[in-house]
Amino acid sequence: MSLNLNGKVAVVTGASKGIGAGIAKSLAAAGASVAVNYASSAEDANKVVNQIMADGGKAFAVKGSVDNITDVESIFNETIKNYGRLDIVVNNAGVYGFAPVSDITKEEYDRQFNINVFGPILTTQQAVKHFPENGGSIINISSVVSNSPGENMGIYAATKGALDTLTKTFAIELAPKKIRVNTVAPGYTTTEGTVTAGITGSDFESNIVATTPLARAGQPDDIARVVTFLASDDAAWVTGERISASGGLR
Ligand SMILES: NC(=O)c1ccc[n+]([C@@H]2O[C@H](COP(=O)([O-])OP(=O)(O)OC[C@H]3O[C@@H](n4cnc5c(N)ncnc54)[C@H](OP(=O)(O)O)[C@@H]3O)[C@@H](O)[C@H]2O)c1
Repeated sequence: MSLNLNGKVAVVTGASKGIGAGIAKSLAAAGASVAVNYASSAEDANKVVNQIMADGGKAFAVKGSVDNITDVESIFNETIKNYGRLDIVVNNAGVYGFAPVSDITKEEYDRQFNINVFGPILTTQQAVKHFPENGGSIINISSVVSNSPGENMGIYAATKGALDTLTKTFAIELAPKKIRVNTVAPGYTTTEGTVTAGITGSDFESNIVATTPLARAGQPDDIARVVTFLASDDAAWVTGERISASGGLR
């Protein structure tokens, strides 16, 4: 297996931290030039870019919120301006928050659905506009909870369920343009986000690890390697699929 992305250009949303940062580094290590998108953490995004460049790769940081049409247009225009083409889009940017059904608010519903679901719709529109005639690869980062939600996860799990369905729909719709669309569903993965959410180090984390067959928390690179495979021509015959990267957690 080659996993050669030389000459390819990728946009990774939410790549200033966690899984997205891992994906940006992995795609760059395979030879892709990478647009490292962030919403607010310029410093973190620049750190990712600097690390990629120190390792001999190509990357630049680009600000923009995935739920804002003007921002999303600008992310892709900047990418084309810098690298002249687009081949890979990874919809990684996502937010999570947990509450029982009685405490669900319209505000939180809008926040999670706008970023986790409407965002990937906007980036897919841009991908269709900018991918070359020989197509491209879109990878949506879902979660194992879209198939196996737990309590208090209503909104978050529903956003990922919606993303799984969009993946299958867009894979069919965009196949005539040779655009492949797949989902990677991580299990619990240690990131800046899980630290901020108070999951890392909690009993909740211990319980998840205890029910994960491979018996550890995932790391961003565990997810990134699967994404890099789907981005590559080695996955040329794979579309509309959902691959769990979860140590066996269902
Ligand atoms: N960690 C897990 O256990 C786990 C498990 C399953 C699935 N996932 C999914 O994996 C993805 C990444 O999770 P993570 O834990 O790595 O998250 P994280 O550490 O919280 O990082 C989130 C990233 O998304 C960016 N972001 C947030 N809102 C954005 C917006 N509106 N526009 C553009 N970028 C935005 C953040 O940028 P700024 O820093 O600039 O705000 C940051 O780079 C999410 O889709 C999540 O649902 C995570």
